[in-house]
Amino acid sequence: MADFTLPKNSKIKPGKKIDAVDADAKNKKTFNVYRWSPDDDGNPRLDSYTIDLDKHGPMVLDALIYIKDNVDSTLTFRRSCREGICGSCAMNIDGTNTLACTKAISDCKGDVKITPLPHMPVVKDLVPDLKHVYAQYESIEPWIKTDSPAPSRERLQSAEDADALNGHDGHGPAMCIMCFCCSTSCPSYWWNGNKFLGPAVLLQAFRWLTDSRDEAKGERLDQLEDPFKLYRCHTIMNCTNTCPKGLNPAQSVAEIKKMMVERKS
Ligand code: SF4
Ligand code: SF4
Ligand code: FES
Repeated sequence: MADFTLPKNSKIKPGKKIDAVDADAKNKKTFNVYRWSPDDDGNPRLDSYTIDLDKHGPMVLDALIYIKDNVDSTLTFRRSCREGICGSCAMNIDGTNTLACTKAISDCKGDVKITPLPHMPVVKDLVPDLKHVYAQYESIEPWIKTDSPAPSRERLQSAEDADALNGHDGHGPAMCIMCFCCSTSCPSYWWNGNKFLGPAVLLQAFRWLTDSRDEAKGERLDQLEDPFKLYRCHTIMNCTNTCPKGLNPAQSVAEIKKMMVERKS
């Protein structure tokens, strides 16, 4: 039988339990939150906070902010817009990668378990280290590349061509907020993330391949023609199922594969 050795500090241990509700609280809930700090040598733990839901807003992010402001100031997480726009509050809530600011507490049954996006190095608590995914993003050169002389004003685009980016229903590839919920739910990315670009970055690659103003389609496809960067996608669909913005990264990957075939025929 295979003998596995777990990496150092990989086992999550039970942590402290804090009951922060008044005796007359009518609407309380427990949040079990992943905690890990690089400042000590301890294993990660799940700290348990029971709080009064009537004291804060309706979203999971509201609960985390309440805990940080009123119960435990050491709790660390990212957030900015609280509108589902910046992508920074992406985390795993009750087993699903999603945005804490758009996830309603009322949709969580029983205690709520919150952990960082899976299979990413952790900076601290719920904050994943995004250096590698952003380096992958940079590698696809996410900007317009042109050879033709610049016009006197901006490069124009028809409404139809803009729709290819934004989507007729507002769910096109340009609507991606780079939260990486999709890449961190993709089993192929878990195992090959050092070489496979993953659904988020491939959706962005597709966004630039589809932009009518871009003039580097051949060069972009050449860069993706690689056994790992693109072809590790096996159409498992976790990415599309988890995207909190309702986008379809799996389809973007399929469209790039189709472009590869079409340019050879
Ligand atoms: S469809 Fe492709 S990119 Fe999406 S989860 Fe599956 S393997 Fe990953
Ligand atoms: S495709 Fe969806 S899940 Fe993936 S990074 Fe973009 S917004 Fe996030
Ligand atoms: S805080 Fe910006 S997406 Fe949640």
